[in-house]
Amino acid sequence: MKLTERLVKEHVRILRGIKFLSLARDKIERNQHPPKQFFETAVLFFRNYADKYHHFKEEYLMFGFLAQKKAGQLDLEIGALRHQHERGREFISRLERSINGYAMGNEIAVTSLLENLSAFISVLGHHIHMEDVIFFPLVEKELSQAEKTSLMDQFVREEARLDQSNPAQIYDALLAKMEKLITL
Ligand SMILES: [Fe+2]
Ligand SMILES: [Fe+2]
Repeated sequence: MKLTERLVKEHVRILRGIKFLSLARDKIERNQHPPKQFFETAVLFFRNYADKYHHFKEEYLMFGFLAQKKAGQLDLEIGALRHQHERGREFISRLERSINGYAMGNEIAVTSLLENLSAFISVLGHHIHMEDVIFFPLVEKELSQAEKTSLMDQFVREEARLDQSNPAQIYDALLAKMEKLITL
């Protein structure tokens, strides 16, 4: 499997989560409120899988490696992708802070949840598209086979380390829970 194919496969899982978030947004717009457990589960999925499992490999292993190799030539592109990861983390933290108020029907908390939900869906959807279509093909072109093998080894080691606290199956279980809670 090519180095970036592994990350594209993770995007497929993340996009499934984004699809459920979009369903939740549509419901809230029509004043049908999904249960708070849906959002609690979504926070767990996006924080642990999208961020700790997936973004970590991109940001700390792949982007760092590429930035060093290209000596500043890709700083703008890499900076933008890092910024989008960072914004995503902020949206999720703000969304999390509004869950209790949302569950009590506080309209200001509902508005805050909706704002951060929408922003997260849009920014992460755009981000994944940019990586799949522009950035990952560039990575495949710029890195030598030996460099890709070395990065792949680092990915595998990092995944094994994370698997000790959260085995990979847990993420599919979180997605299944989100699906169940949003299609009630
Ligand atoms: Fe990313
Ligand atoms: Fe990604």
